[in-house]
Amino acid sequence: MTAPTSRSPLATEQLIASLTLEEKASLLSGHDFWHTTAIERDGVSVPSMMLTDGPHGLRKQLAAGDHLGLASSVPATCFPTASALGSTWDPELLTRVGAALGLETRAADVSVILGPGANIKRDPRCGRNFEYLSEDPVLSGDLAAALIAGIQSQGVGTSLKHFAVNNQESDRMRVSADVDERPLREIYLASFERAVTKADPWTVMCAYNKVNGVYASQKRFLLTQVLREEWGWDGLVVSDWGAVRDRVAALEAGLDLEMPASDGRTDAAVVAAVRAGTLDEAHVDAAVRNVLRLVDRTADAVATPATVDVAAHHALAREAAAASAVLLRNEPVDGAPLLPLQPASSANGADGAGVVAIGEFARTPRYQGAGSSLVTPTQLDDALGALEAALGAPVPFAPGFTIPEGPDSALDGDALLAEAVALAEGAGTVLAFLGLPAVDESEGYDRTTISLPAAQLRVLEAVAAVNPRVVVVLSNGGAVSVSEWQQHAPAILESWLGGQAGASGAVDVLTGAVSPSGKLAETLPVRLQDVPAYGSFPGELGHVTYGEGLFVGYRWYDARDVAVAHPFGFGLSYTTFAIDGVTASVTGSGAEARVAVSATVTNTGDRAGAEVVQVYVSDPAAVVTRPERELKAFAKVALEPGEARTVTFDLDSRALAFWHPALHRWTVEGGEFVVSVGTSSRDLAASVSLDVVGEDVSAPLTEMSTLAELLADPVAEPEVRPMTADMDPALLSMADDMPAIVLADFGMTPLTHVGLADLIERSNAARG
Ligand code: BGC
Repeated sequence: MTAPTSRSPLATEQLIASLTLEEKASLLSGHDFWHTTAIERDGVSVPSMMLTDGPHGLRKQLAAGDHLGLASSVPATCFPTASALGSTWDPELLTRVGAALGLETRAADVSVILGPGANIKRDPRCGRNFEYLSEDPVLSGDLAAALIAGIQSQGVGTSLKHFAVNNQESDRMRVSADVDERPLREIYLASFERAVTKADPWTVMCAYNKVNGVYASQKRFLLTQVLREEWGWDGLVVSDWGAVRDRVAALEAGLDLEMPASDGRTDAAVVAAVRAGTLDEAHVDAAVRNVLRLVDRTADAVATPATVDVAAHHALAREAAAASAVLLRNEPVDGAPLLPLQPASSANGADGAGVVAIGEFARTPRYQGAGSSLVTPTQLDDALGALEAALGAPVPFAPGFTIPEGPDSALDGDALLAEAVALAEGAGTVLAFLGLPAVDESEGYDRTTISLPAAQLRVLEAVAAVNPRVVVVLSNGGAVSVSEWQQHAPAILESWLGGQAGASGAVDVLTGAVSPSGKLAETLPVRLQDVPAYGSFPGELGHVTYGEGLFVGYRWYDARDVAVAHPFGFGLSYTTFAIDGVTASVTGSGAEARVAVSATVTNTGDRAGAEVVQVYVSDPAAVVTRPERELKAFAKVALEPGEARTVTFDLDSRALAFWHPALHRWTVEGGEFVVSVGTSSRDLAASVSLDVVGEDVSAPLTEMSTLAELLADPVAEPEVRPMTADMDPALLSMADDMPAIVLADFGMTPLTHVGLADLIERSNAARG
C-alpha cells in the first residue's frame, strides 16, 4: 500500500541538493518531544510532522510531552490492548480497528501513530506483554499487518515497534538480548517480517536494547541488511524515544530519525562527522530522503479535515472487546454450565436469587496498561453498569478487596471479605471480577510472578465455599496462573485489558448476546517454573541469554510434553464445532513448494458462533532440531447453527522452511512433513502426511566430512559402502562420526588420502 506522493523523485533530489548540511542534519532529529523539525525559507518548505503513541489509541499530548503517560492527553477511543486484540485471531476485525485508529490519528493532525508492537511474548512476566500480540510469529505478524493496513488506509503512518528482540522491560535500555541465528530469524524477526512484507508500515521503530551486543539503534544488520536489503522495505526508521547512544553510528547503520529532540547536540555531531570525513554524506542524504518520503506520504491526510464518530468507535471497541474474551472454562454446575447467564440466574428478584458481582474491578475497571500507551478514553464502561443495563435490574455488589494504590486502598480486608461472602451466600450466580492491579504491569518493569494477588484469591476461596456457582472474569494484560485457583471457579472468562468498552464487551459474552470466540494467543502455563525462559528471564549483568532457542511458548510445552493450564489457540464457545474433510497436497519443490490445505468446519451446536481453524506444520525428521509443530495459517469462521464452510489455505515454502545456520538462508529440506488442522496446538482434528521434494541441504564434502556424510552422498556412497562391509558393527558405529581424513590416517578403511581427495573432488563437481 503506497499513498500518493506529492513530490516526484526528481523534485526530492533537487530539494535535498538545495539543503545545507546543517538543514539536512536538523531533519534527522526531533524538533521537540513529538514533532519533527520543519524547514521554511525562501524556496524550501518541509513541514513538521507529529508522531505520537499508540498502539491501541491515540495519546496526543498538548502540553510538554513525556513518554511515561504522566502528562494527560486529549480524549481518544481506547481500543482493546494488543493482549486482547491478539486473542481475536481476526485480521478483518483488526483492520477495522486499525482504520478507526487511523481516522482518529488523522483527525488529530497526527502523521504517525506509534504502533503496533510485534515483539514476541517470550515470557509471561514481561511488563509490556499487554502491548504485544502473541507468542507466535505467524499470529503476531498477521495481526500486526492487519492493524497496519487499517491505520494506513487512512493516509497516516504506523510505527512497527520495537525492532527487535525487545521482550522484557528489565534493563531494557541497556540489556543485550543474546539470541542464536535460528530463533532470531524463525521467531523474533519473523513476526516483524510478516508485518513488514504484508503491510509495509511507513515507519519502523528500533528497540532500546542491544541485540547480540550491539544497540538495535546502531545495528546495521537489523536496520539496513534485514529491513531494507532482504525485506525490500523503503520506509523510515525512527528511534525509540531516547534509544540513540551514538548518533553517527546509528545513521550509518540505517537509523533515519532520532526522537525526541536532542536540542541540536546530535545534529552537530552529524555535521562534524561529515566535515571531518568520518561519515559519508550519502548516509545523511539517504535518511533525509526517507524523512521526505514520510512527509509526502502523510501530507494529504493531515491536510484533509476528518471527523470522528465517537459513538461508533466506542461500539467498535465493544465489538472488539467481546471478540477478544477467551472462555477458559464453563463446567456444569447442577447439570448446566454457568454461562451464558440463564434468565433464572440473572433475574434479580426480591429473593436475591439472581446475579451478584464481587470484586473491585466490577466498578473500577482495569482496561489498559501503564506507560507510553496510556490513553485518555472518550468514555469508560464498567461491568456493574453494563450488567445492570443488560439485565434490566440492579446488581448487588461487594468490592471484596481493594486495588493497591486504587480507591479505598486502606479499607479493612477482613470486613470486605465478610461482606462479599454474605452477598454470595444464596445468590443465583456470583460473578467475581478479578485481575492484576495497574501497578503490577507497566512499561518500564516486569512482573516477578504470574499469580493473582493473594487478597483476591482469599476472597474467591471464601466465596466459593458458600456458593459453588462462581464465574471469574479476569482483567489482566500479561497471562496469569489459573491452575492455582480454577477449582473454585467452574467458569472463567479471560477478558484481558479490553479498552474503554472492555466491560460491556465482556458482559455481552456473559449474557450470551455474543458467543465467545477468543482464542489464547499465548499458552497459559501451570506453574511459573514451567515457562521456557524461567531460568534466564530477565538475565543478569547486562545480558539475557535466549537459551530456550526456538522453543518459545507452545513450541516449548509441546516439545517437552509439559502439562499446561490451557494451550495456545484454545478457547471455548457456547456452541460446538467439528472439523473434518482435512486435505493437504504439495506442488513444486524446494523454495517453489506450495501446500494447499483445506478443511470443513461445521457449527454442530444450536447457537451462532465462530471457530478459529488453525493449521500446524511439523517436520518430523530434519537435519536440524525443529519444533514439534508450528502454526502456519489460521482462519476465523463465523457460522450459524448447522452451517458448514470449507476453508482453504495456500501455504508457500516458508511454511516448510527453516533458517539454515550454515547457509544463512531459508531452506526446505525434502522428506516427510505433517500438516495438522485443529483448534489449538494440542487439539488437532486431523493430520495429513506429505512427501516434499526439498533442496540439497548437505554441505559440500571435505576431508573432515564424516563417514556417515560420505555414505549419504550419492557419488561417494557406492564406492565407500563396500569398504565398510567387513567392519565390526561397533567399530562402524564409532567410525560413522569420524572424519574421513582420520579414517585414512588410521587406515580404518581402504580409503587412502589420495583416494579421498579424488572422491571429494568428484562428488563436489557432481553438485555443480
Ligand atoms: C516507548 C515507545 C513509545 C515512545 C514514545 C518509549 O519509551 O518504548 O513504545 O512509542 O516511548 O512515547
